[in-house]
Amino acid sequence: MTELSARVAAWMAAEEAVHLPPLDRTDLRKGIQGLSGLYVHQRADQDLAARAGAGPARRAAFACYFAPLHLLTAVAALERHGAALGTAGRPVWDLGCGSGAAGAAVSWCTGQGPILGVDRERGWLDAAGRTWRALGLRGRARKGTLPEGMSWPKKGEILCFGWSINELDDEARAEVLKRVQASLRVGGSLVLLEPLSRRISPWWGSWLRALSPLGVVDHDVKARVALPQQLRDLDRAAGLDHQELGARLMISAGG
Ligand SMILES: C[S@@+](CC[C@H](N)C(=O)[O-])C[C@H]1O[C@@H](n2cnc3c(N)ncnc32)[C@H](O)[C@@H]1O
Repeated sequence: MTELSARVAAWMAAEEAVHLPPLDRTDLRKGIQGLSGLYVHQRADQDLAARAGAGPARRAAFACYFAPLHLLTAVAALERHGAALGTAGRPVWDLGCGSGAAGAAVSWCTGQGPILGVDRERGWLDAAGRTWRALGLRGRARKGTLPEGMSWPKKGEILCFGWSINELDDEARAEVLKRVQASLRVGGSLVLLEPLSRRISPWWGSWLRALSPLGVVDHDVKARVALPQQLRDLDRAAGLDHQELGARLMISAGG
């Protein structure tokens, strides 16, 4: 078992202890199935965040199942395509951090720099802190709504958007794009992950055209990953199969 697998297993056990009880394993399974249905049928205009956060079973499903899948997917993506980000431990902004999975992956793969999380849902902020502590990372999360919740750029920061840009409306997304461009111009880097389905991110091509002159490239990532036993058990219980993880990635290829 690698150091990361051991930490993910311990993190998952700790998250389950937060949610079960009062929930039981049947609640968790139903929460996973409910959220999984939302992901599969997600439309570009749907506020998945609000619906994902609705109800304790879905919150538990996100924290105990989808967040670890996000972390492992992001790590697989960065192992393949993240070399230019270096390992100097640069600060990582985790924007739309939820329970902190994507920012944790970026920090873990780039030298364990401090994580600054922002999410509009106050209820996720403690969960993000738990995630980063469980993985041995430094981080703090604050309530904020994108785009205003983003600070203006400082040199050398990594901006991470893990499955969050899809949840913005067009106006907010356009303003976030401007701030990403400003950050890249002063030596910042980008890591942006979304589901593989092209249907739900119609903005992808225009973002890429706007960001490729600043060194950003995209990849479809599909990776077979050895899942921790807890994830295999939850997969089986929910009738799902995550032996292959996938995401679309936009990433700075030049540092
Ligand atoms: C699908 S979750 C992904 C969470 C996390 N990044 C991960 O990788 O697991 C999307 C997150 O974006 C947050 N979000 C959506 N719109 C936002 C906005 N305008 N400002 C801040 N956070 C937002 C939601 O509250 C939710 O926690």
